[in-house]
Amino acid sequence: MNAAHDLDALKRAAARKAIEFVRDGMIVGLGTGSTATHAVLGLAERVKAGLKIRGVPTSRETAELARRHGIDLIETDDAWSIDVAIDGADEVDPRLNLIKGGGGALLKEKIVAAAARRLIIVVDHTKRVPALGTTFPLPIEVVPFGWGSTARQLETVGGRAVLRRRNGEIFRTEAGHYILDLHLGRIDRPAELETQLNLIPGVVETGLFVGRTSLLIVGTPNGIEVHHPPGA
Ligand code: A5P
Repeated sequence: MNAAHDLDALKRAAARKAIEFVRDGMIVGLGTGSTATHAVLGLAERVKAGLKIRGVPTSRETAELARRHGIDLIETDDAWSIDVAIDGADEVDPRLNLIKGGGGALLKEKIVAAAARRLIIVVDHTKRVPALGTTFPLPIEVVPFGWGSTARQLETVGGRAVLRRRNGEIFRTEAGHYILDLHLGRIDRPAELETQLNLIPGVVETGLFVGRTSLLIVGTPNGIEVHHPPGA
C-alpha cells in the first residue's frame, strides 16, 4: 500500500465516523474534496438503507456526486436550516481553526458552515498543524477586476500573493472569481487576520475558518480521534 492510499483510508475511516452524527430528517451540508467525498458516499449508503436526509452541496462537483448516489438535495437558495455540515480542511490548528479552499470551494463552504448549527470537520492526521499557514498558503477569493492591485494590497498584510492557475489557465471559482494563494507563513492571530483581509476591496472571502468547528474527527494510523474546540 502506498502513502496516498494509506491516507485515503484514514480519511475514509474519519468520514465514516462523522456520518454517525447524521440522523433521520436532518438537513446536511455536504462539503467538497476527497475527504468530504467519503462522507457523501457513506451517507448515500445509509440513504439506500432508508435514512431520510436532504443535502446542501458546497460545490457543483459535490452536488453531482450526491445526486448520482441518490441523496436528495435542496436546490433553492432561501434560508436553509442546516442541522450539520460535514467538510474537510487543508490545515487545522490546536484551537480547531482552519485553512480551507485548496479545492477552490471556500466561498460556498463558508456560507454553508455559517448556516449550519454544527460543523464537523474531517481530516487525516497530516492536516493538524501547530499554527495555520505553516504547510499551506491561505486561499483568498477575489473579484477578477483589478486582481493585480488587490494582490499588492494583500501583500501589505504580509507574504506573497500568487494567482491560482490550473492547466496553465487562470483558475475560476464557481462564482467566476479568481483565487490568490497568500504565502504568509505562520499565522498567529487568524481572527485578526481574517478581519484585516476582509477590509481589502476586491476580497470576496478568505479560506480562514475561525471559531466555526464544532467537532474535529481525525483519522490517524492508531485509530480515530474526536476533538472538541477548547473551552466547549
Ligand atoms: C475545498 O475547497 C477545500 O476546502 C477542501 O475542503 C479541502 O481542500 C480539503 O480537501 P481534501 O479532503 O481533498 O484534502
